[in-house]
Amino acid sequence: MIKVHDKTFVPFITREDIQKRVGELAEMINEEYAGKKPLLIGILNGSFIFAADLFRGLTIEAEISFIKLVSYKGTTSTGNVVTAIGMEEDLHGRHIIIVEDIIDTGKTLSSFLPEIHHRNPASVKIATFLSKPEALKYDIKADFNAFNIENKFVVGYGLDYDGLGRNLPDLFILSE
Ligand code: IMP
Ligand code: MG
Repeated sequence: MIKVHDKTFVPFITREDIQKRVGELAEMINEEYAGKKPLLIGILNGSFIFAADLFRGLTIEAEISFIKLVSYKGTTSTGNVVTAIGMEEDLHGRHIIIVEDIIDTGKTLSSFLPEIHHRNPASVKIATFLSKPEALKYDIKADFNAFNIENKFVVGYGLDYDGLGRNLPDLFILSE
């Protein structure tokens, strides 16, 4: 058991299982993207550890870049608007793989994907470390998904609880 801020978490997925599964995803990408020189775009902060491990598993030519999404109150009735900062690469004609830590409701990606498509890439796929299928509210599906998990809060392997816990090499889940 570990404590992060005021909450108690218990071991959930070990570092060995994580490394094995991330290696499998890298192999899938190696096969599918050989000769295509994909550009991985990691979404900060949560994806940085998953992105690093996934990227190191690639044996094909590939590039990586990171962006940060900031949401602000839009002027429309739809509320928050998400925009990317740090996206300097020319995406035109490129094969893009978005790298996320977790797809929860899918809101983040559904509001950000149009911005990617707008730049005319050759293709866009999504790689995520985790998905919470029961929490999904938007039409977003990962193409490369390491683990489906139940609808509970987790920390570790890049994911935080209020800033802490990202450095844990294993994944922990909120205890009852
Ligand atoms: P979405 O837009 O609802 O899909 O939310 C995705 C974001 O919420 C992720 O990138 C995380 O930053 C955060 N998030 C969702 N669930 C968890 C969790 O269990 N632990 C840590 N962060 C989470
Ligand atoms: Mg995140």
